[in-house]
Amino acid sequence: MVTVNRNYLKLPGSYLFSTVARKVAEYQSANPGAEMIRLGIGDVTQPLAPAIIDSLHKAVDEMAGKETFRGYAPDLGYEFLRSTIAKNDYQDRGCGIGADEIFVSDGAKSDSGNIQEIFGLDNKVAVCDPVYPVYVDTNVMAGRTGAYNPEHDNFDGVIYMPCKEENGFLPELPKETPDLIYLCFPNNPSGAAITRDRLQEWVDYANKTGAVIIYDAAYEAYITEENVPHSIYECQGAENCAIELRSFSKNAGFTGVRLGFTVVPKALERDGVKLHTLWARRHGTKFNGAPYIVQRAGEAVYSAEGKAQLKEQISYYMRNAKVIYEGLKNAGYSVSGGVNAPYIWLKTTDGMSSWEFFDYLLDKAHVVGTPGSGFGAQGEGFFRLTAFGTYENTVEAIERMKKL
Ligand code: MLT
Repeated sequence: MVTVNRNYLKLPGSYLFSTVARKVAEYQSANPGAEMIRLGIGDVTQPLAPAIIDSLHKAVDEMAGKETFRGYAPDLGYEFLRSTIAKNDYQDRGCGIGADEIFVSDGAKSDSGNIQEIFGLDNKVAVCDPVYPVYVDTNVMAGRTGAYNPEHDNFDGVIYMPCKEENGFLPELPKETPDLIYLCFPNNPSGAAITRDRLQEWVDYANKTGAVIIYDAAYEAYITEENVPHSIYECQGAENCAIELRSFSKNAGFTGVRLGFTVVPKALERDGVKLHTLWARRHGTKFNGAPYIVQRAGEAVYSAEGKAQLKEQISYYMRNAKVIYEGLKNAGYSVSGGVNAPYIWLKTTDGMSSWEFFDYLLDKAHVVGTPGSGFGAQGEGFFRLTAFGTYENTVEAIERMKKL
């Protein structure tokens, strides 16, 4: 008889952003006249930059020519993109990452979900709380956790590192030693950033204990402060303990185009094995490469025009972040984030739970955000707004919230 992967049954409810989308759709169908402003999921609203569009067009034309048509992409990514990434994102920042340590993929969500596959099921996982739900859910699915604990609103067998207001929404080194440590900076959902010195402490800790850090740097393009690292490889010794995940979604608007990459340094060994070899094996077996035209679009992100155009796009979103941050602060909200990240993290008002505040905002202001408790127990009483809306909608949303 067929059996199912019962680990899936440990997961309560549906994926956070599916639940939000369903609730918004229900509200919209009951209130068809409501003009909704969506600042929930971190999805971009600005069109692709002209340099990227040009590159896509050119690549599409190449697919029409006998001489230039491409079939399967190399499963680790085209050399032109991997070497461009290695130079611009790493070598120019003084990080010794080579093109052959970069694995191109269809996005950081897949990579952050898949990376756990190369590790044994007996590894102990540590995550921040609140946390991007993919890290936890995929470890639950794999069977690396115990059951859901309704009393604590978390999973047994996982080390949760509380990120609270009093510690600047940053995790402390855990008391119990983990094997895998997921860190995301600039942080989703809180928008908190970590300094290079603080991150160095994590790298030193991982090298000392033998843990591996899975570092999600999807939001690095939003960093504005000098002492905040863009990559974990800016820290000494990180190539011996860290895997880095990167996305083209947030820095270049590829949420619908799909492109990302993972860095697995060749120096990173655990259990007598190079993790690079395992990830290459996994990638080769399960992935047929990101599309050629998309990889050419990714290359254009690093061209002089691409860089200039994307700098403007990021400034556009960061202007929204400022509108949200300052508007809500002036209205008496307790807010954080928004300085090195496109997320603003606010405290709910009048003792409302995160989901109560979600319903309240939806109903009274027709503004959609994301309940903090959806990211973990420590997110309860908090709420996330994204800066990825249009400027006009962002201004309007904050005006509506001020009137509540
Ligand atoms: C978010 O809103 O947290 C992100 O957009 C989700 C994602 O990137 O998968």
